[in-house]
Amino acid sequence: DSISAAAPLPPWLKWLESCSSTNTWAIEHLAQLDHGTVVFTRHQTHGRGQNGRVWYSPPGVLTLSVVLDRIPATQLSGFSLIAGLAVIYAIEDLVPGLQNQLRLKWTNDVWLNQRKLAGVLCEGVTSNLSNGTKLVVGIGLNHHADFTSLEISTIRNPASLHEVVPIVPNEILILEKLRHYLLQTAGLLQSSQHSSCFSVLLSAVRDRDALLGKQITIELSGEQISGEAIGIDDRGCLRLRLSDGTIRTFMSGHVTFASV
Ligand code: BTN
Repeated sequence: DSISAAAPLPPWLKWLESCSSTNTWAIEHLAQLDHGTVVFTRHQTHGRGQNGRVWYSPPGVLTLSVVLDRIPATQLSGFSLIAGLAVIYAIEDLVPGLQNQLRLKWTNDVWLNQRKLAGVLCEGVTSNLSNGTKLVVGIGLNHHADFTSLEISTIRNPASLHEVVPIVPNEILILEKLRHYLLQTAGLLQSSQHSSCFSVLLSAVRDRDALLGKQITIELSGEQISGEAIGIDDRGCLRLRLSDGTIRTFMSGHVTFASV
């Protein structure tokens, strides 16, 4: 991996010409990376997605990881959603007029009008419980990506920012905004009020819940469970009402729509 010669770059930005995965790179260099460092590349060769999936990123997808220190271990479940909320706030700041078109699809997607605009992969390294967890928040954001080619048509239902804005915001500006909102979130969760801040953030997440009231199927360890999504609980878990009326709560799993 090499650092791009293009300058000047902000001190918090590690711009890599190419790398296998910005998350992998950040985890490998974690000891040297400060709180708020953003690792970015335009060319990620072996991106990783949730649940061990491969994350393929054609040109025009922004791939980055943000390093956050001292996130309380108790708040890690639900953090992908909260990070997704930061992605929404960043985009809404830069692209006015998108209000309510951006939603969160549990556990880790940002949707633009029912299509996937961004995915989040949070990976943590816990040093000790009092220091909390050092988190790497990986984000893949479709900026000006063309998904029409055959090779990448396997990506399900993607959206790209350039479809809704005539001139897409500059990459560095987007990185700056994403960093700003993630640092703000981390600041709230590091404060002495972290439990109530977590609840407030999760209630903002609920306002953006794309699944609420929808018939969905959750796939978890090879099992498929269908029902109605009835909301996100106070830990960030998804609640599902099954056809017999029982309610099940999921901490992880992959959601598709029951009819698909
Ligand atoms: C998902 O939707 O499954 C999550 C996708 C996360 C992709 C990003 S791209 C930057 C960072 N590096 C990775 O290898 N993955 C994340």
